[in-house]
Amino acid sequence: MYETKARSSVRAAKQYGMVLLMLLCAGLLSSCDLDGGRTGTRILIKFPHVTPPASPKGRAADRFQEVVSERLGDRVTVEVYPSGQLMNDDDSIEALAFGEVQMIAVSLSKFDRLTKKYQVFDLPFMFRDLNAVERFQKGPAGPELLDAMADKGLQGIAFWHNGMKQFAGPVSLSSPDAADGLKFRIMESDVLQAQILQVGGNPQKMAYPEVYQALQTGAVDGHENTWANAYSSKFHEVQDYFTETNHGYIGYLVLVNTEFWESIPADLREQLGDIILEVSDWANERAAMLNAEARANILASGRSEIVTLTPEELDRWRETMQPVWKQFEDEIGVELIETAKTASLP
Ligand code: LMR
Repeated sequence: MYETKARSSVRAAKQYGMVLLMLLCAGLLSSCDLDGGRTGTRILIKFPHVTPPASPKGRAADRFQEVVSERLGDRVTVEVYPSGQLMNDDDSIEALAFGEVQMIAVSLSKFDRLTKKYQVFDLPFMFRDLNAVERFQKGPAGPELLDAMADKGLQGIAFWHNGMKQFAGPVSLSSPDAADGLKFRIMESDVLQAQILQVGGNPQKMAYPEVYQALQTGAVDGHENTWANAYSSKFHEVQDYFTETNHGYIGYLVLVNTEFWESIPADLREQLGDIILEVSDWANERAAMLNAEARANILASGRSEIVTLTPEELDRWRETMQPVWKQFEDEIGVELIETAKTASLP
């Protein structure tokens, strides 16, 4: 369906089996047991994700599970697997494509092997805040972004916010010069890789469930993430400084396998779609507040120091990272970048 890096032969064999099974089942989804999905008349939605239940995504996923159970409990079961306990994000995209799980919410930074459009969300200092992201996603670019992987059999159905990213590490990063030579964990994104190289750092792509230990053992020096992720995953216990840069965005694409989604009876699909939209509004209204609370909790913990920046220091960060935009302009498309920029205008 699409290329992934370093597939083991075991995985390849398993996928070969899955492909055969999918071919055999084509058009007969209800009679196939694809380890979930439709079994008889009941629908099972397995929903794995990587952050703890207390994170913004964890709360949204649990809310979705609760509302579905309240309203459609006799016909649909949602099983949420948080904290990477079932699989990491990369594997979940693959599992979704092969019908092993039915819904995921993965950071927009992690799709660049499938579409270059979401790279716009990783451009440093693209969005001033979550309101700007919301304007962009709800504007004319929204439907195009949700449909960006339709040709791969994957359908985006909503965007969920987490928050704005901060840098953390063993030193204050009030100047980008301080990042020189430090190893930073980043999500699996080429834009984020370029961004760290731009400040002289050493980027290390790494799955989320491995981050705490990598920070604790010093396998990496620092990382970038939201306040809410850092607090709920306890990263503040193993990082001395957080520098409040707000330089990027973390948010999610809620994604389904198109074939599975279309196999759901129309009335039920519509009700599920409505619940997802309602839960998305609920989650997105709370995201900024959850991040502000997490920031306050990190401060109160006394475990790490929070460094705030002057407008001049922020300008220095912005200017240092700006060349990354040009580097990815052709892949992302100038028009999409311009639309995103407009959403961020005061
Ligand atoms: C990360 O890997 O840092 C984040 O994408 C985790 C998440 O899902 O918020």
